[in-house]
Amino acid sequence: MLFDPRPKKRREELFDRNKEIGQLINTKEPLTLLLGIRRVGKSSLLRVTLNEIENGFYIDARKMYFDSGGWITSESLIREFESALNSLRGSVRGKVLEALRHVKGVSLSGVRVELSRDVRLSDVLEALNEVGAVIGIDEAQYLRFYGARGGKEFLALLAYSYDNLDNLRFILSGSEVGLLHDFLGINDYGSPLYGRSHGEVVLKPFSRELSIEFLRRGFSEIEMEVPHEVIEGAVNFLDGVPGWLVEFGRKYAEIRNLKGSLEYVFRQAKGFLNGELKELERRSPRYVLILEAIAMGRNRWELIRDYLASKGQNVPKSRLAELIKNLEKMSWIEADFGSGRKRYRIIDPVIERVLMER
Ligand SMILES: Nc1ncnc2c1ncn2[C@@H]1O[C@H](COP(=O)(O)OP(=O)(O)OP(=O)(O)O)[C@@H](O)[C@H]1O
Ligand SMILES: [Mg+2]
Repeated sequence: MLFDPRPKKRREELFDRNKEIGQLINTKEPLTLLLGIRRVGKSSLLRVTLNEIENGFYIDARKMYFDSGGWITSESLIREFESALNSLRGSVRGKVLEALRHVKGVSLSGVRVELSRDVRLSDVLEALNEVGAVIGIDEAQYLRFYGARGGKEFLALLAYSYDNLDNLRFILSGSEVGLLHDFLGINDYGSPLYGRSHGEVVLKPFSRELSIEFLRRGFSEIEMEVPHEVIEGAVNFLDGVPGWLVEFGRKYAEIRNLKGSLEYVFRQAKGFLNGELKELERRSPRYVLILEAIAMGRNRWELIRDYLASKGQNVPKSRLAELIKNLEKMSWIEADFGSGRKRYRIIDPVIERVLMER
């Protein structure tokens, strides 16, 4: 069902995205990045892809980060691997268990795999290499909170696998695109991954036509006839981010009112984003002021600076540049050079509206 709010897991549940699935499955790159803004469908695409591959593992770095209160411990990483191993099904499961049998710190109790606290993940990866596997890590930029050195130990593991384990592939997804790049440090001499080539798949919101088709199909699945103006109205407001389209479809099916449903999606988005904005605010309250300025059309450098000043925040030039750069890296905003001047815009129009109403 298209309007199911959870990340999709099977190909038949996913709308479009065949091209991207093909790219992720067929690539020979040991490392591929799957990038895209919030709610655009990264987790769904990653899960569907891993499901299509016989030996695909799904690991959620963002979940580990929140579950362990703002960092990622080696214990939580081991537990994630353990549960990914235990979620394997079918004939591949037997092969993987066989390969793991002799790894120190791995015990097989009945049908469950258990990893002890001192298991070495490099040993587990070596065993997986014997059978071949694709390891997908969702919101992988959160792994910078792993260990005491900004995730370097994890990168070293990845680099080791990249160089030595020919039958393993990694897909790292991220919504904070610049942060993920920074974390991996492929162009950074000091990073364990320095100089490794990688593939990239960038997931975009649906085009207008596809968004309309998405809603049509979603409603037809639940056998509802919906006037064309309603579908157009929704897409005009929400654009092509599937996460918002799904929320809309569900609500409209319940109340059958365009305005009310859009207001509902908007409230949902607000709740979701307020959590995100709080996280940002914790890092610096100025981030949110900058976003507000841009959402209100004060989208040039000097205008942003004036807006901050009007709120009692006189920020030195270099610091403001850094804050803006970080917002770009986190995929909240992008720069636009139209008409010869650099302007910033909020990437997702729903987020823009939420910011305007704060
Ligand atoms: N191609 C698609 N077909 C059908 N539903 C989709 C598709 N892409 C996303 N969705 C739906 O949109 C919502 C958001 O998807 P998903 O969680 O995969 O996105 P995400 O980019 O991982 O979001 P987040 O940034 O919150 O992690 C879910 O309800 C999911 O079912
Ligand atoms: Mg996700």
